[in-house]
Amino acid sequence: MRVTVIGGGTMGSGIAEVFAQFGHDVILSDISDSILRKSELAINASLKKLSEKGIIKEPERVSERILYDTNFTAYDSEFYVEAVIEKPEIKSEVLHKIKNQNAIVATNTSSISITMLSKYAPNPKKFIGMHFFNPPVIMKLIEVVSGYDTDGDTIKRVMDISKSLGKTPVMVKDFPGFISNRVLMALIREAIISLEEGISDAAGIDTIMKLGMNHPMGPLELSDFIGNDVVYDILNVLYNDLGYERFKPPVTLRNMVYAGKLGRKTGEGFYKYDK
Ligand code: NAI
Repeated sequence: MRVTVIGGGTMGSGIAEVFAQFGHDVILSDISDSILRKSELAINASLKKLSEKGIIKEPERVSERILYDTNFTAYDSEFYVEAVIEKPEIKSEVLHKIKNQNAIVATNTSSISITMLSKYAPNPKKFIGMHFFNPPVIMKLIEVVSGYDTDGDTIKRVMDISKSLGKTPVMVKDFPGFISNRVLMALIREAIISLEEGISDAAGIDTIMKLGMNHPMGPLELSDFIGNDVVYDILNVLYNDLGYERFKPPVTLRNMVYAGKLGRKTGEGFYKYDK
């Protein structure tokens, strides 16, 4: 199948790599050639790692299946995955450019309503959420999100395609944060509130969740990994859209975002990192 992935950042590059790994021809698009060169370098480095680990056999052949082009409208695909930045106005503009009404169009959004975005897609019946996790080549889950108009055939095809990519798809409805971020953000928020209340320090809270609950990362470590700004934005979406007090962004988190303590990417968040 020919697949167009729009947005060649962290997620788009990984998603393009997954489709190519499983034999699909991929067009990966972004706004500039220099960004696409970076995507290509990241994909090839990742393919090299996968082949060293024996997960894939012929990295060069996988790499050859990906074509990089800033103009995705020059190609017609059966399947599109939109993975541009988490801004409704940018996503709607990109979706509007896709003209094939028979193609399935999936968005990788983590917090925007699928039903809202579907109004900009060529065919709302064939528009769906396909929420991959970072890094897409490693993480097994795909949260498949049906919008108000998504038809049964599209849901079935996306569930099947997800399985064919070696993933486990789970279907959810179009609710703020779906399941993954709704449950995860409640956990991270409670960890931050516990820190604010001085019940324990960051290392203590994370150690309790790692050793006591068998979580691979503590919630504060995870917030630093995701990016405290991203966590803050998602909490705001959940709080505004659902109205539950339990999603109110903690002031400590807000202040950390204002101070640029965004976590790993800035070298400091709940912990300090070597940059
Ligand atoms: P990113 O910032 O790494 O990549 C976004 C890419 O979109 C950039 O390369 C940017 O140049 C490109 N872009 C912006 N405007 C564009 C346009 N008009 N046309 C084509 N490309 C354009 O962001 P990331 O992390 O890859 O996120 C992408 C999407 O995936 C977002 O919707 C995000 O919520 C979602 N997501 C992110 C996860 C993560 O852990 N980073 C996990 C799951 C979903």
